[in-house]
Amino acid sequence: MQILEGEGVTKYFGGLAAVSKVDFSVTKGEVFGLIGPNGAGKTTLFNLISGAFAPKPGVIKFRGEKISGLSPHKICRRGVARTFQDVRVFANMPALQNVLLGSLFGTPTGMSEAEANKRAIELLDFVGLSAMKDIPAGGLTLVNQKRVEVARALATRAELLMLDELMAGLNPTETAEAMELVTRIRKRGVTIFMIEHVMKAIMGVCDRIMVLHHGEKIAEGTPKEIATSKKVIEVYLGE
Ligand SMILES: Nc1ncnc2c1ncn2[C@@H]1O[C@H](COP(=O)(O)OP(=O)(O)OP(=O)(O)O)[C@@H](O)[C@H]1O
Ligand SMILES: [Mg+2]
Repeated sequence: MQILEGEGVTKYFGGLAAVSKVDFSVTKGEVFGLIGPNGAGKTTLFNLISGAFAPKPGVIKFRGEKISGLSPHKICRRGVARTFQDVRVFANMPALQNVLLGSLFGTPTGMSEAEANKRAIELLDFVGLSAMKDIPAGGLTLVNQKRVEVARALATRAELLMLDELMAGLNPTETAEAMELVTRIRKRGVTIFMIEHVMKAIMGVCDRIMVLHHGEKIAEGTPKEIATSKKVIEVYLGE
């Protein structure tokens, strides 16, 4: 079953087509990767899916229903959550409260405060941050701020989690841990759509990968197909 589908998804900034006529679909339960050179339109595509912008033209459907054009909070409550390339935690709020925002305000049906609190505590533990729950998020290291964002996104009861460069800026140990986290999230039944430049990570955890270049989709396939695609090697991977 396709959980997310895009048809002819396009976004212009002035005269620049940041995303151009992109068709894509993400299958429920998979880890779907998105790669491409800097400025290829990857984050813009995430912004289109999460409702920061509406595609023009183009349509995006989640579980068969059109979501493009809805506001970000409505899309979130449908079950689509994300993290940000430029990590966006609420710096002055403790880690736990950051996650609580997800469970209190982002879920489809809402929750009691007690339930929301329980969920936030469970997810902070899931990402390995229980011991830091009372520390203001702004005081955490980059990797831990990223973990807070993942927990906050999952707290919304997301069915689709979009990760924008989760591994960027992490050291090799942290990257391995982040890959393991992605695998554990998938085991919870959450579908993952991830942008990544770290090839080892994306090739290791994804079922399928789509490649953007100058806003256009230039390839899609299994990690093996992408790694050996002439076109992808030419524009992105290099020899
Ligand atoms: N809000 C915006 N206003 C104007 N131009 C934008 C905006 N957001 C992105 N762009 C432009 O759209 C193009 C695609 O940017 P985008 O951030 O989507 O690329 P990306 O593939 O995520 O790149 P990176 O790997 O560097 O994160 C770039 O040329 C960028 O300058
Ligand atoms: Mg980006």
